[in-house]
Amino acid sequence: MANSQVQIFDTTLRDGEQVPGCKLNTEQKLIIAEQLDTLGVDIIEAGFPVSSPGDFKSVQEIAKVVKHASVCGLSRSVENDIKVAAESLVDAKRPRIHTGIGTSDMHIKYKFRSNREDILDRAYKAVKYAKSFVEDVEFYAEDAGRTDNEYLAKVCEAAIKAGATVLNIPDTTGYCLPHEYGDKIKYLKENVKGIEKAILSCHCHNDLGLATANSIEGVINGARQIECTINGIGERAGNTALEEVVMIIKQHPYLNLETNIKSEMLYGISQLVSDSMGIYTQPNKAIVGANAFAHSSGIHQDGVIKKRETYEIINPKDVGVDHSEIVLTARSGRAALAWRAKKVGYELTKLQLDEVYANFLNYADRKKEISDNDIHEIIETSKVYKEIISH
Ligand code: KIV
Ligand code: ZN
Repeated sequence: MANSQVQIFDTTLRDGEQVPGCKLNTEQKLIIAEQLDTLGVDIIEAGFPVSSPGDFKSVQEIAKVVKHASVCGLSRSVENDIKVAAESLVDAKRPRIHTGIGTSDMHIKYKFRSNREDILDRAYKAVKYAKSFVEDVEFYAEDAGRTDNEYLAKVCEAAIKAGATVLNIPDTTGYCLPHEYGDKIKYLKENVKGIEKAILSCHCHNDLGLATANSIEGVINGARQIECTINGIGERAGNTALEEVVMIIKQHPYLNLETNIKSEMLYGISQLVSDSMGIYTQPNKAIVGANAFAHSSGIHQDGVIKKRETYEIINPKDVGVDHSEIVLTARSGRAALAWRAKKVGYELTKLQLDEVYANFLNYADRKKEISDNDIHEIIETSKVYKEIISH
């Protein structure tokens, strides 16, 4: 794998599905998994097999149909979890077990009522046991974001010794600032013995709205896998949004990073996940929101009509959106009105436009958005209508 290659680990069907009320059935999960495979994700985390018979079955079925991506099952550092995960993955072309344990003092003291030495030992044993089933074992240090770096490095070393191929460094509570998360990855890269044998992975939650920024800082500092979900869905405020990290990497070539994602599929898969889960995507959501390529103020519309790139850094076609939108509202200017009038069949002179624009503003003050039908009505009721149609 080239050093510039960032692996995309999709956890829409595991962490994403932890959104309350968004449970999917096996059939829905299979449709999404096949789309993720075609999209080009490198790893699909299909579920947490020990958590329920339904989840086990979903992982098992997904493992059978996925052609290219690795299929991954989550487990705690508990033998039975790991064994069940392995059983669910027997038909996978590329099976991966994702096992781990909480490593912050908060988790060690209050969740496990244990101590650092014991957790280190459990981490080692869990990876070793997972390795007895599959070659590809990813270890997660839960709450790594709040884990002391020196101790985290020791846990990572133990996991590598036991055979871990990937080390997941989750900011489970979404607490880190981007520079802190980046420094953590850099520290591990520089201080963990044997780190060249494993890939560091970013798994960032969005509690402070920093999941995407933190993941990008992670890869800038040497991580080579990002764990993310479509539309950024997930536990609490969600996970890193797949479409955001993919497009950041694509739009900033000087980062010298790349992914295997077919970006033209992003909008379609965003809609599929949103519809299947019944989670509405906020209109201002980056990349895939309804307004991501819509322009409504007069100044912006004038610029976009002259040259799209004046107010757009992404070509909408690159993410599967047909075209940019010029939304007519009371904030729109003459340029947008003339452009839209032309689209529906009226070529207006400057004087005609002044007259129609005054009429338009009266309408627009009463309506949130002006449709094509409204344009016809505005023009038909303006003083210059006869002059316009006689041309
Ligand atoms: O956020 C987290 O720490 C997780 C782990 C289970 C990987 O989702
Ligand atoms: Zn998570």
